[in-house]
Amino acid sequence: AEIIITNSEDEAGEIYAKCVADLIERKPDAVLGLATGSSPLAAYRQLAKEVKARNLDVSRVRGFALDEYAGLDPAHPQSYRSTITRTVVEPLGLDPDKVRVPNGNLETIKDAGREYDAAIEAAGGVDVQILGIGTDGHIGFNEPGSSLQSGTRIKTLAEQTRIDNARFFDGDIDQVPTHCITQGIGTIMKARQLVLLAFGEGKAEAIKETCEGGISAFCPASALQLHPHATIIVDEAAASKLA
Ligand code: F6R
Repeated sequence: AEIIITNSEDEAGEIYAKCVADLIERKPDAVLGLATGSSPLAAYRQLAKEVKARNLDVSRVRGFALDEYAGLDPAHPQSYRSTITRTVVEPLGLDPDKVRVPNGNLETIKDAGREYDAAIEAAGGVDVQILGIGTDGHIGFNEPGSSLQSGTRIKTLAEQTRIDNARFFDGDIDQVPTHCITQGIGTIMKARQLVLLAFGEGKAEAIKETCEGGISAFCPASALQLHPHATIIVDEAAASKLA
């Protein structure tokens, strides 16, 4: 993977924004892989700016989110459907019908993973997948130990992840769903380009493991070492443990 060290989240975001804006110019129905969490927010802001500055037509752009909570109403403000609508679809002016989020409805979730992977394939695959990384090296909701070949499927959320995410649910862990549906590591690896963003000291160990550790399910993001076009964009703090 190529590693780029930037001075700020905005600078990192600009690199992503230029790359995606160029893509949309070449391919107006580009397929974007989307992530929630704090790491991609500056990138989405910069992309919205770039779309405006270049006056791009994004009406045909398609999107697939990485993951969703299971058993949470999509209308809940903390569902990843709502989060993607707020942070990506609305600021960029995308067609909401062209942006999919995994189906976390418990009644139909059994087949949802296979259907989601089939939908990505039917769209021709993801062109650029944006990724954050957990302090334990997770990507999507693929916690350490996840198969590097996995497809989209239901997972139990790690206790630590539920504790971390309680801040979005009135600080009450009992309100945090216990399960999720997430693109697998195998699904993510099929995207033609991966852009992983990581900022702050807290991500330094995970970035070291991702870039310099062995390829192992203990650090799901280490799979990026096998990807032909992966770019890891970090700030100085997240890069601080690299050799
Ligand atoms: C988000 C996701 C997660 C986050 C990761 C980092 O859809 O799947 O893997 O990317 O937990 O989160 P932040 O960016 O909030 O540090």
